[in-house]
Amino acid sequence: MLIRNGMVVLPEGRKRLDIRTHAETIIELGEHLNPEQGEHVIDASKLLVLPGFIDSHVHFREPGGTQKEDFLSGTRAALAGGVTTVLDMPNTQPTTDTQEHLSAKIALVAPKAVVDYGFYFGATDTNIDEVAQAAHKVAALKLYMGSSTGSLLVTEFSPIYRHFSTFPLRKPIVVHAEDEQSLHYFGTQGSQDHNQARPPISAQIALSRALAIAEKTGRSLHIAHTTTQRELELIQEARQKGVHVTCEVTPLHLFLTEADQQRLGNYGKVNPPLRSQSDQDALWHYLDVIDTIGTDHAPHTRQDKDQPYAQAPSGMPGVQTLMPLLLNAASSGRITLEEVVKRCVSNPARIFGLKNKGALEAGKDADIVLVDPEQEYEITDREILSKCGWTPFAGTHIKGKIEHVFVRGTLAYHKGAILATPGSGRAVQYVDA
Ligand code: DOR
Ligand code: ZN
Repeated sequence: MLIRNGMVVLPEGRKRLDIRTHAETIIELGEHLNPEQGEHVIDASKLLVLPGFIDSHVHFREPGGTQKEDFLSGTRAALAGGVTTVLDMPNTQPTTDTQEHLSAKIALVAPKAVVDYGFYFGATDTNIDEVAQAAHKVAALKLYMGSSTGSLLVTEFSPIYRHFSTFPLRKPIVVHAEDEQSLHYFGTQGSQDHNQARPPISAQIALSRALAIAEKTGRSLHIAHTTTQRELELIQEARQKGVHVTCEVTPLHLFLTEADQQRLGNYGKVNPPLRSQSDQDALWHYLDVIDTIGTDHAPHTRQDKDQPYAQAPSGMPGVQTLMPLLLNAASSGRITLEEVVKRCVSNPARIFGLKNKGALEAGKDADIVLVDPEQEYEITDREILSKCGWTPFAGTHIKGKIEHVFVRGTLAYHKGAILATPGSGRAVQYVDA
């Protein structure tokens, strides 16, 4: 296939180029490539050409929560949003914290996936040996220092330290950095304001612990969903001291604040919470410090969200709206497409060691998205392919529409239609695995 004359977004800049693919792979990028006989040619002269996004933080709920999402609905939502690779979190039921549970999950979801996928392994107080056996099969270890949806939680120093000192050096330990003791304290003061019940200080305390442990053990630490200025300052300072720390921000925290939480009620409840306007401003101000934009796609049914505050689960869907929101932010000049591609493609591929992913270059998988930068539309609940059927971004006006999505060279989505068949998605391979 030859994708001709598109404006190709590379991390270092934009260029008008042709891209040739063969079977599943990109084989050539260049100017004025001549079509070969019988070659399928796509005219991209009015389109942006982006690498498929890698969402390194999704909760697809399989097994155990498939009324909220399963691997088919979750990966279809990803595909419609230009996300061609996902890394799925371990807080399923059962939790992905033994080799047996990991193997069962792999077998269960493989026939359903329509984009490529990898998994996290969950840390517990006692599963050090299981982690050692499974590490080469997963993208990363996920360690919850504060409780959230599901039962995974490690709060004591000794298991945290043991996980850090034994996990393979080349893979990241991804930490949900909210401190359990302080969550307990603030959560029992009677506030129904989620940002007060799980305040910024909880994130600051957990992050400080994690940074100190990563420094001492020399491990690679990746901080999930940073939300405050203080966290980014701490990360920057640790990095200057040589700590191997990278971090993520979610579109939820980039585009919504606690004012939206008031409007959305429990539908806006997420851990860590939507923060103040000044914290959100800091995320944009410190964008240079942020390595990845992952969605924390955490679907919950309306029925779950319609319960009273204390019972309503935390989390919002996001995998389908990641690229649209960022295209729109780029079209209004808040961020450049190059900065987006670094955080949604190149950096996640590097941090999680994803083989054949991460760039529009010869030899990589042909995961390619074509976007009409001029088309405008409004996000509505109707187009949401997640089983939850709603989005906190309903009503948001977007400039820039996804037209074609190729997964490893095959047209998998075209102008609103999912063409991929269940099982066409494949498990990612890891560098050095
Ligand atoms: O709000 C959240 N929801 N935060 C998490 O850490 C987990 C997620 C979920 O799985 O629902
Ligand atoms: Zn999460």
